[in-house]
Parts: sequence; structure tokens; C-alpha cells
Amino acid sequence: VILSPQHPLSAGLTGESRLVRAYRGERSDTTPVWFMRQAGRSLPEYRDLRVGTRMLDACLDPAMASEITLQPVRRHRVDAGIFFSDIVVPLKLVGVDVEIQPGRGPVFGRGYADAAGVAELTAVDPARLDAASVPITEAVQRTIAELETTDNGSGTATPLIGFAGAPFTLAAYLAEGGPSKDHLAARTLMHADPGAWRALMEWTAELTGRFLRTQVLAGASAAQLFDSWAGALSLSDYETHVAPASAKALAHVHDLEYETTDASGAAVTRAVPVVHFGVGTGELLGAMHGIGVDTVGVDYRVPLDIAAARVGAGVPLQGNLDPALLGAPWPVLQAAVRDVLARGEAAPAHVFNLGHGVPPETDPTVLTRVVELVHEAGA
Ligand code: CP3
Repeated sequence: VILSPQHPLSAGLTGESRLVRAYRGERSDTTPVWFMRQAGRSLPEYRDLRVGTRMLDACLDPAMASEITLQPVRRHRVDAGIFFSDIVVPLKLVGVDVEIQPGRGPVFGRGYADAAGVAELTAVDPARLDAASVPITEAVQRTIAELETTDNGSGTATPLIGFAGAPFTLAAYLAEGGPSKDHLAARTLMHADPGAWRALMEWTAELTGRFLRTQVLAGASAAQLFDSWAGALSLSDYETHVAPASAKALAHVHDLEYETTDASGAAVTRAVPVVHFGVGTGELLGAMHGIGVDTVGVDYRVPLDIAAARVGAGVPLQGNLDPALLGAPWPVLQAAVRDVLARGEAAPAHVFNLGHGVPPETDPTVLTRVVELVHEAGA
């Protein structure tokens, strides 16, 4: 499927951005940088806007979701916006009883930890999501309209990254009915009833894949699959019980292509770049690349040069400053940023990011300074 001519990739607006070039393994004038959770509670303008609006209501209000997405792009001059939404939004849109509790995370009306619970979920046709996704499409369209006129120094429009939760991370919340430390309910279902587990994973893959596809069709220039909690799994369980569903989710965007010209001016058709990230997934990096993604996101536990050896030659990496460093004195933080950049040289291309999300208590002026440092030092 060829993206519409108005899509920022087709229209030649973002295909040569630092971000998109890095995701296809090319280096630019400097290293691109964005932060997971760059939109959110670290920004006073976010806290002001959110007063009186619940998290999921904010996600489904196109004007608000778009404004929140743009706030960190304007403030920090990062190389990408990440769409303001949440991994549970597609569940909400098909009628699953879920809320996001501040300080806690997604909480469901019940847990779905057995065959009967899974059957209740899978009775909902994932295709219903498409009709319910109008607020998502509208929010993305509003966002890219401003991003198209926002050149944060790279000489191109600023790309928007779309995202979705991977089936396992969603299942970890669904099985438990809320957040958990070890995701025991999900990991137990996987082994206690492999048939129900597979049904849950396939349903979730279909739903989250459609959510991601909607964002790309509406104008996102890259897609990131968050398998935040995959680090709870052994490599063997990951490969057997999880990776096939993640690949199925990504199949919803792998067929989306755009036409452009390469460096020599020849016509080429390119796919939309895809990033795969998880926390504590040092043992899984090769397998996470193996499901068919361009770039692997690395958390702060594995230095990028070691990660590069694990995923193999030719794979761009994204990461991986420990978010804790954002609270350290500037000389300490500065040295850590430079170390991440130096180790990132081991990959063909590097997108600077944190090893997980921005902590809510982060001083946003520190983030702006990190962006400046990466852009100066990464040149
Ligand atoms: O800037 C960005 O990164 C974009 C926005 C984004 C949010 N959630 C907004 C959000 C993204 C990419 C997500 C994905 C998400 N949601 C993940 C995967 C990424 C990761 O962090 O590992 C996960 C696991 C969730 C589930 C979830 N939603 C959690 C754990 C929380 C935090 C709860 C809390 O209050 O500590 C949420 C809520 C959430 N999602 C907030 C934001 C800005 C905070 C809610 C608020 O500000 O009121």
C-alpha cells in the first residue's frame, strides 16, 4: 500500500530528516535526539493543560492530544514528536473497561487471566477499532500540520513517531487487571493455558497493529512498538509465546510504503521505519530485532557498543541514557551523554534517547540542555 501523496514521507518533508535517515542506517550532520515520555508531567505547560481532564479523555481530544505532542518539540527542539496517546487507547476505543490512574497506570474493571476472560475480550471484533479511531486520525493530522512547518535545525520538517504497545505488554496489564511488578498473571496464563494465551496475543496483536497503522496512514513518519515489560521473559518464552504476535502486530505497518528518490536520484520505494523497544531486554535484543524491525531501542542497562554486538552489524540503535542521570550535576550528566554518544558510534546510526521514559520530576531545562549537547557533540 502506497501512502497518500500528502503524507510527510511521500511529500518529501520528513524522509531526509535526521531521524528517518538514522532509522534507515544513515548518519546526518549530527545525532538526532528525542525522549520517551518527552510529553507529560515534566512540563509545566502540560500540567496546566491537563487540569480537570482525565488521561484517556486527553488522549481522545484531538486538539489537546495534538497540543501536548507539540509542547516538547517547541520547547526542546527535539528531532521528533511522539504522538501523545497511550498503549491502552485502542482497548478503550473498542469498549474495554480501562482507566489510567495517576501515579499507578492502566487499571481495568477486571483481570483477564483465564480462558473465560480471554473469550470475553476476543468476542470483540478488532476491526471495530477502525471506525472508532477518528479522534486518533484527527489528532495526528493536526499535529503534522504544525510539524511540517517546524524545522528544528535539520533543514527538514520534524517527523512524528507513532507508537503502540506490543501484545505482551498489553497482555501483562490485561491478565493482571492493572500494573504489576513481575507480570505473573500473564506469564502463568502463557503456560497454564497456551491456547487461551495464543488467542489473547493474536487478538491484542490485531488491535494494537491497527492502532499503529491508523497513526502512520494519518501522517506519522515512523512507528515504535513498546514491549516495555518483555524483560520479564526468558529468551525461550519470548521466542515461542510472544515474538510471533509482535510480528503480527507489525505486519499492519510493514506493507505501508512511499515513493521517493535515493541519493543518486533514482526512484525507490521505501517502507515506513519501525523501532522496537523494551526495558530489561538485554538478553532479548537479537530476538527483538529478529521480528523484523529497522532499529532496536536499548534500555540503560546495556551499553550501546555491547548492544551493537548483540543485534549484529548494520542495525541502527536508539538509546540509552539512564533517566536517573537527569537529576545529577551537569558535569556528571554531560560526561554520561558523551559516553552514550561515543558508544553509539558502534552502530551504523544512532538516535539518542533515554533508556526509559522521562521521570515526571525532571527539570525540563535540563532536557533542553541535553538536546543542545547532543546536537553539538554528535556532529
Ligand atoms: O512522550 C511520550 O512518550 C508519548 C506518550 C506516551 C504515554 N504513554 C503518555 C502517558 C507513551 C509512548 C506511552 C506508552 C505507554 N503507556 C507505555 C510504554 C512506554 C513505557 O513507558 O514503557 C506503557 C507501559 C504505558 C502504560 C502507562 N500509562 C503507565 C505505566 C503510565 C504511568 C502512570 C503514572 O502516572 O505514573 C501511564 C500514564 C501515562 N501515559 C502518562 C503519560 C504522559 C501519565 C499520566 C498523566 O500525566 O496524567
